[in-house]
Amino acid sequence: MITFAYVLATIAMLLIVAGLITARQRRRHVPLMLSAFAFDMVGLVIVEFGPMFSGRTDPVTGVLTEPGPMKVIHASVATLAVVLYVAQIVTGRKILAGDRSRLPGHKKLAVFFLAARLAAYVTMFMLP
Ligand code: HEM
Repeated sequence: MITFAYVLATIAMLLIVAGLITARQRRRHVPLMLSAFAFDMVGLVIVEFGPMFSGRTDPVTGVLTEPGPMKVIHASVATLAVVLYVAQIVTGRKILAGDRSRLPGHKKLAVFFLAARLAAYVTMFMLP
């Protein structure tokens, strides 16, 4: 179950890289970023609810295990990444609707999103 979560997160990261490379081609950029979001949301549901269904402990969520600093850091940057995903979808939709004035904000938020998503990915492998 957890290995599957690592695979989903890795696919999402690759889609994000591809989405960045194609950031100026909206026909590629938009579906790539939305696919990354979809993979990440499936991963999130799996790590959050998987342990409940399987009844096992989980190194990612800490369900049935002791809390620890790395779990807090991971959960914090992962939550931030989800919030910034939503912000990118909202501003991206406005640009698509013709409001180019939203592009500088979308680009600025992209830096924070990428930092949070990368931090969540790296800390995922550092969990006990
Ligand atoms: C979630 C992560 C996302 C990141 C990190 C991201 C990042 C970027 C960046 C850096 C650019 C600037 C390209 C440039 O002009 O140099 C861009 C452009 C754009 N993004 Fe995103 N984006 C994301 C998601 C989305 C989503 C979900 C949508 C649509 C719903 C979207 C729509 C657009 C559009 C329409 C442009 C303008 C493309 C053009 O030049 O015509 N983005 N994005």
